[in-house]
Amino acid sequence: MGTCSNYVFLCFFFLSVASQQSISKAYETYIVHMDVSLMPKPFTSHHSWYTSSLATVADSSSPPSSSRLLYTYSNAINGFSAILSSAELEAVKTLPGYLSSTKDKPVKLDTTHSYRFLGLNHDHGAWPASNYGDNVIIGLVDTGIWPESKSFKDDGIGEIPSRWRGVCESCSDFNSSLCNRKLIGARSFGKGMLAKKPEMSMSSPRDTEGHGTHTSSTAAGNYVEDAAFYGYAAGTARGVAPKARIAMYKVVSGGDGVVSDVLAAVDQAIDDGVDVLSMSLGFDSLALDEDPIAVGAFAAMEKGIFVSTSAGNAGPNDGTLHNGYPWVLNVAAGTLDRKFEGTLHLSDGYSVTGQSLYPGKFPAEKYFSIVYVVACQNEGSLEKARGKIVVCLDITNTLGLQVVRVQNSSVVGAVFVSNDTDTIEFFIRTTTPTLFLELKQGKKLVDYITNGSPEAKQASFKFHETRFNAKPSPQLAKYSSRGPSRVSPYILKPDILAPGDSILASCPAAVRSAMMTTSYVLDNMNNSIQDLGSQRSQPASPLGIGAGHIDPNKALNPGLVYDTSSEDYVNFLCAMNFTKNQIQTITRSVISSCTNPSLDLNYPSFITFSDANGTNSVREFRRTVTYVGQGSSVYTARISEFYEGLSVRVSPDTIEFKRKFEKKNFTLTIEGKMMNKTFGSLSWVESKGKIVVRSPIVIM
Ligand SMILES: *[C@@H]1O[C@H](CO)[C@@H](O)[C@H](O)[C@H]1NC(C)=O
Ligand SMILES: *[C@@H]1O[C@H](CO)[C@@H](O)[C@H](O)[C@H]1NC(C)=O
Ligand SMILES: *[C@@H]1O[C@H](CO)[C@@H](O)[C@H](O)[C@H]1NC(C)=O
Ligand SMILES: *[C@@H]1O[C@H](CO)[C@@H](O)[C@H](O)[C@H]1NC(C)=O
Ligand SMILES: *[C@@H]1O[C@H](CO)[C@@H](O)[C@H](O)[C@H]1NC(C)=O
Ligand SMILES: *[C@@H]1O[C@H](CO)[C@@H](O)[C@H](O)[C@H]1NC(C)=O
Ligand SMILES: *[C@@H]1O[C@H](CO)[C@@H](O)[C@H](O)[C@H]1NC(C)=O
Ligand SMILES: *[C@@H]1O[C@H](CO)[C@@H](O)[C@H](O)[C@H]1NC(C)=O
Repeated sequence: MGTCSNYVFLCFFFLSVASQQSISKAYETYIVHMDVSLMPKPFTSHHSWYTSSLATVADSSSPPSSSRLLYTYSNAINGFSAILSSAELEAVKTLPGYLSSTKDKPVKLDTTHSYRFLGLNHDHGAWPASNYGDNVIIGLVDTGIWPESKSFKDDGIGEIPSRWRGVCESCSDFNSSLCNRKLIGARSFGKGMLAKKPEMSMSSPRDTEGHGTHTSSTAAGNYVEDAAFYGYAAGTARGVAPKARIAMYKVVSGGDGVVSDVLAAVDQAIDDGVDVLSMSLGFDSLALDEDPIAVGAFAAMEKGIFVSTSAGNAGPNDGTLHNGYPWVLNVAAGTLDRKFEGTLHLSDGYSVTGQSLYPGKFPAEKYFSIVYVVACQNEGSLEKARGKIVVCLDITNTLGLQVVRVQNSSVVGAVFVSNDTDTIEFFIRTTTPTLFLELKQGKKLVDYITNGSPEAKQASFKFHETRFNAKPSPQLAKYSSRGPSRVSPYILKPDILAPGDSILASCPAAVRSAMMTTSYVLDNMNNSIQDLGSQRSQPASPLGIGAGHIDPNKALNPGLVYDTSSEDYVNFLCAMNFTKNQIQTITRSVISSCTNPSLDLNYPSFITFSDANGTNSVREFRRTVTYVGQGSSVYTARISEFYEGLSVRVSPDTIEFKRKFEKKNFTLTIEGKMMNKTFGSLSWVESKGKIVVRSPIVIM
């Protein structure tokens, strides 16, 4: 852990940045990429080179250049970020070693869904977990962490790996003594944000929003017994890799973050020695060479760091995902086989079960009048129903408003009838006892109440029912962003689906207390809210498919893996017609020329596009598989059925492997009329039938 004095200084330094309110709007933050092979001899460090360069370009009438260098980057990219006037930027462009520059931009946290209300529901990373992630260091670039959560206790966790170079910053409300053998690093990056919004204060690594605490406990939370979300999903909770170490790199405060801070976090995480980088945030519509996650992840990948990113929550339309680069794992959000429910009991015995995540308890056997209000957005109608249970029908697509109004009223409880599943998911964690019913069920209830006998018009609730084996599951969540990737449509993205829907995970106390404005008694508040999804349903495994940069030596035994090298990615970038400058910005290395451009990466999936004119065409994909099984083995290709007029062939269609790590090539050919939205697969089936390595084939 770092020493206090260091970090007291850091905080002070940040504050001094914060006080630079005099820097006028004529200045902007720029990220400048430099070719470090051209650093002039007298300089001994990149930092001194950049500092000195900035001094030479700085306008004498402007604030001192030394205070305007925000970060020096040396791992994620080579370069720096600085606050510059446009004239100064032009001068920077003439510096020896100048490569490219971009204006700082805001980041998008993937939390547009119920997570904000529920402390639930987000994309989370997946990685090859082995031995519960023992000794794996997971770096999360996120909103910070709530270190007191039970998920971050270090019981049963060994010494911190000696290769770890990170620290826990001690800042205002975050004492570095809160770190331990589980939470081994916590840092905050906000200089870029402060330059944009000087009125903000530099925050500590503490999470006040919940996202980062949630992602880190989902990824690597320790075992927590008797954890539950107030009675739902009770059991022993744990993250996907409960023995892994967590290092938090905070880049988002109050929902805001910028590229320069994200780059600084990735730069530091690489230097600190993380094994996995998990980023549930992204930048929409940035070109590859301007996207800090693409660029930072490339550097991380080259260092052997596995990078997992979220696809985003901008579904269900096509082409909505971010982080769709070949060198990262891109994870879509799926539903679990688990549903949270409650039941409404009428006093005559009629009952109906619906969705609910109401955290409180309803007084047992206590019955209240139930009335059909129809449109619960009407405050007058709700006032009349004071002390009763209301039934609301969402026929005008105003479910969200109705839920808000009901929660702000004096009704005892509510039943919402709606098929607006997206909105239900967003509002399901209510502060008033509430049940959500589908249209069909709901209409039955409405009929029953409006026609029934007077005693039927008394009702009670029972909450905290968790049902497993909901079918079909897992399913792609409606909100999850879809491929193809706009920045690189030649590879199929997202790579995998992992449970991201109604995941219960740790939640900062600050967020928890905000959720507790309810009139009924809550369960033990000291229990953290935990991921139980991983108990029943592991994240959709990559089915033996390697994705991104896979080291076959580290793979579990999925049979066959597809691996790629940095060189393959350079050939890929060449084929995408990036300039030498752009390629160097992404890869940090100088390329002399594009000798072997190819869009056909050795990827574990196949995507091609339909022809507008519907003529016959041929598409060929070449792949190399590495055998990671024991002994010898024979794999035979199996191709799913396609429509008439399309032929999909594999050559050779049988491959024999004699020893581990042996590589074999094959070619997949698609021929015929390419029809939009065609989905199929190639499976390599091991002769003993134990292992099936399946790759999707998609025509978009
Ligand atoms: C941090 O915690 C340690 C041990 O709990 C304590 O001695 C120290 O005073 C704390 N520092 C601050 C700045 O609160
Ligand atoms: C429910 O779904 C049906 C079919 O998808 C649609 O026609 C109807 O408008 C929806 N009703 C509401 C209240 O959203
Ligand atoms: C809640 O109700 C109060 C008065 O009853 C009203 O002033 C306020 O605007 C309401 N808030 C919302 C969000 O509807
Ligand atoms: C919660 O924890 C506090 C402090 O650890 C303790 O005093 C309190 O009794 C606990 N509350 C419950 C409901 O267990
Ligand atoms: C790259 O440029 C060549 C030549 O202009 C063009 O044929 C090809 O389609 C371009 N590739 C991509 C991926 O845009
Ligand atoms: C494929 O389908 C999408 C929508 O389903 C459509 O926008 C697109 O134009 C189609 N492409 C071709 C080549 O038919
Ligand atoms: C299909 O149409 C495009 C123009 O829309 C044309 O450039 C291309 O040559 C056509 N392909 C074939 C195989 O006719
Ligand atoms: C497999 O393909 C690679 C290029 O993709 C080539 O270098 C290698 O020689 C091929 N191996 C065999 C056994 O054909």
